[in-house]
Amino acid sequence: SPSDPDLVERARAAKEKLGDKVFVLGHHYQRDEVIQFADVTGDSFKLARDAAARPQAEYIVFCGVHFMAESADILTGDEQKVVLPDLAAGCSMADMATAEQVAECWDVLTEAGVAEQVVPVSYMNSSADIKAFTGKHGGTICTSSNARRALDWAFEQGEKVLFLPDQHLGRNTAVRDMGMSLEDCVVYNPHKPNGGLTADELRAAKMILWRGHCSVHGRFSLDSVNDVRERIPGVNVLVHPECKHEVVAAADHVGSTEYIIKTLEAAPAGSKWAIGTELNLVRRLANRFASEGKEIVFLDKTVCFCSTMNRIDLPHLVWALESLAEGNLVNRIEVDKETEAFAKLALERMLALP
Ligand code: 13P
Ligand code: SF4
Repeated sequence: SPSDPDLVERARAAKEKLGDKVFVLGHHYQRDEVIQFADVTGDSFKLARDAAARPQAEYIVFCGVHFMAESADILTGDEQKVVLPDLAAGCSMADMATAEQVAECWDVLTEAGVAEQVVPVSYMNSSADIKAFTGKHGGTICTSSNARRALDWAFEQGEKVLFLPDQHLGRNTAVRDMGMSLEDCVVYNPHKPNGGLTADELRAAKMILWRGHCSVHGRFSLDSVNDVRERIPGVNVLVHPECKHEVVAAADHVGSTEYIIKTLEAAPAGSKWAIGTELNLVRRLANRFASEGKEIVFLDKTVCFCSTMNRIDLPHLVWALESLAEGNLVNRIEVDKETEAFAKLALERMLALP
């Protein structure tokens, strides 16, 4: 999308003035007008890994959502300050698991006599509190690019996994990638007494899935897949694992945003693709690969942007960069020390996965 030339020039000038003092990270779901200023772009895993890549940068401007900025703060030293250009850029999925609810869930598991067998695995899309809970209870963080390896690791540590907060990524990884059955999975509903589960159900389950989901990826349905296959014969359906199980089961390829990009880079000219993920990314890929003769369409007929990712727009980025260039530290994301210590443990377990 065309961006205001005046704002583009202001962002460029502020970034130039800051020089090595600033490091801008951009998630693949960010708008074009923002992503053009990112020093590094990536999926959640790559951005977590690269957050500490420029230790000399005093400011890390995170163009993404709150949990990503928190993770960057946890993984970098105190002298590096993480800035989120709009503090309202949250994630509705991350908000679906609060520290109180998760503590209550652990009590339920303890009551049922299963807590000792349970290893928590938390998706990156969670608050620092949930990551700290995970670290404290011997678990790991995962992203959509390493969920399989995280679960393999977890099942070496214990017999059951509590997967937070995205039920779909948990179920899709267990069933599609690891050959478990749907019956091995139960859903813990934090809004019901005892999660809506009996002690027997908890004892029989291998995967205890938190009842959370992404509303953006929740829009894709089996009908979207069937429709696009009818509309475009020979189309390859490529979706993100935050989609519902029936969508993932009907797709040809499943993976993180980085995987989606790599797959399309490797695709032959003339191939056709329907992509089930956020629209900023799909549009950017459709434009990028059109000249190579790769036809790329959005999986659904409606539009779905992630409204919180979209909150980071060029005006917010300009404001953040100009403030920093003038010496005003704005919108700092800082996790408290105790939370940070346990959350870091869980994140480092992820970074150490084979
Ligand atoms: P990835 O970029 O890790 O695939 O995650 C997608 C997402 O929903 C981030 O919020
Ligand atoms: Fe959260 Fe979904 Fe947006 Fe990702 S796409 S930030 S999971 S709401």
